This record gives sequence, C-alpha cells and structure tokens, in this order.
Amino acid sequence: MQVIDVLQEAARRVHENVKHLAGTEESGIDHGRGAGGDISRRIDIVAEKTVLDYLKEIRFECTVFGEECGLVELSSNPKGFVIMDAIDGSTNAVRGIPFFCCSLAFAPEDSLGSVTDGVVIDLYSGNLYSASKGKGAFMNGKKIQVNKENGQYFVVGVDISGISPEVLPKLAPIISTSSHVRHFGAVALELAIFAYGLVDVFVDLRNKLRITDVAAGYLIAKEAGGLIVDEKGEPLDCKLSYDKRISFVAAANKEMLVDTMKKLGLPHNLNL
Ligand code: IPD
Ligand code: CA
Repeated sequence: MQVIDVLQEAARRVHENVKHLAGTEESGIDHGRGAGGDISRRIDIVAEKTVLDYLKEIRFECTVFGEECGLVELSSNPKGFVIMDAIDGSTNAVRGIPFFCCSLAFAPEDSLGSVTDGVVIDLYSGNLYSASKGKGAFMNGKKIQVNKENGQYFVVGVDISGISPEVLPKLAPIISTSSHVRHFGAVALELAIFAYGLVDVFVDLRNKLRITDVAAGYLIAKEAGGLIVDEKGEPLDCKLSYDKRISFVAAANKEMLVDTMKKLGLPHNLNL
C-alpha cells in the first residue's frame, strides 16, 4: 500500500466517523488543551482517534505529529512522520458552518519541505484533495491546477482571525484593491481550494499557523502549480516543531505573487 493510499483511507474514515457530529452540541465538548495549544473538542478527539486506530490497525510504521495528541510513536523504526490536523476548522465544525476538513501529510524527515504526500478531505462534501511530490495534485482522483486565468473574478483569500493591530494595516493595500476577498476559516481547505483554482491568492501574515494546519495543503497547492513563500519571499519551509508559527503568501503564478508581495510591502525580488 502506498503512503498516499494510507492517508486517503484514514481521511475517508474520519469523514465517516464525524459526519453525524458536526454542528451538534456534543461536537464541542471540551477535552482540555491539545499539543498545538488550542482547546481540543470532542470532534477533534474522535477524528484523531480514527486516524490513530487506523494507522495502528495497518501497523503503519511512523511517528504521528498530531495537533491535539502531540507526538505519538507508533513504531520503534518509523519511516517518517504523519502530520495530522484531524479537524482543521474546528470552530466551523462545531458551529455547523460547512467548511472544515481533515488534513494529513507524510514527511520522511522532520521538516515541512520534506513532505511527500498530502491529503485534505472536505468533511462536509466528502471531496478529497491529494498530492504526492512530483506527481501532481488531484481532487477525487482528477488532476487539478491553480487558476491560470487573470479573469474578471479575481479572488483573494486572507486569514485575519485574531490578527494583531500592528499586522492588520499591512493587508489594507490588497483588501482595498480587491473586489472579492474571502476568509473561510479552515486554512488546509483554503489551500486545497486554491489548488483547485477557486482562489487566486491567499495571504496569512498573522504568524499563528501551525505546521499541522498547512503541511498537506502546502504540498497540494505546490503540486497544483501554486507558489508559496514566507514573509521574506523564500520558499516556505521549517522544522517540525510545536513552537513554530507560520505566515505565508500563496499565488497562482509569479506575476500575482510579486504583485501581492509588493502591495504587502514584503521582499518581491523572488528567486523561485
Ligand atoms: C485553525 C484554522 C483557521 C485558522 C486558525 C487555525 P483549527 O485551525 O485553520 O482557519 O485561522 O489559525 O488554528 O484550530 O481549526 O485546527
Ligand atoms: Ca488546524
């Protein structure tokens, strides 16, 4: 069984196990603070347990780097890390807002840049986005690409939840010059729909994202032809760590990326 098949099957099982829970009172029951620093809700715990149980069932030799459960060693001889955000967009899931997902990635080394496989399943629709390094990105098995048209409906995604008053003004130039700005509340799925071509540029400068939030969406976006850089204009990369926080700018092509970086007042002499 290929790694991508393992991640896909785990994601499908999460979909099966949580679809009745979303939007219910039970989904929001507090389970204390998880390794990623947020309160774990019942729906997060059910989803994580589903993935862990499946990986144990098939004896997948890995270390799990989970948003709630922390590091879980499933083998003394791991092939790498399963980077798990079993529910991304937990608030949407608990409130029943139909935009939340399960994000699973595999990295042979302890870095974001080494991610070889990623799966994001939309837990409302069941749509499954996937990618393996060098093999392209897919939605329900069909190849996908970032949007290549500079069309009329140029859509900019931003994440501004909890943004600091110092960083907020930096976004003003892109927000005020864009007629179509969107913020959906689950960054892994936002990266997946960017990869699918529904959003042209996505910006998160809050320095709040964890590796678990972005690992799978990052690979899917790149494999779909998207460009993703950090605030310095360098290709996004970092070590797997629970302390690390990430900001990034993603764009469907270099022209859009340079233009966005310029507007944000960030380095735009990009060597990509
Ligand atoms: C959150 C979502 C949200 C982003 C937060 C993340 P969670 O993940 O991705 O869009 O604004 O910074 O923490 O907590 O729902 O897994
Ligand atoms: Ca998350």
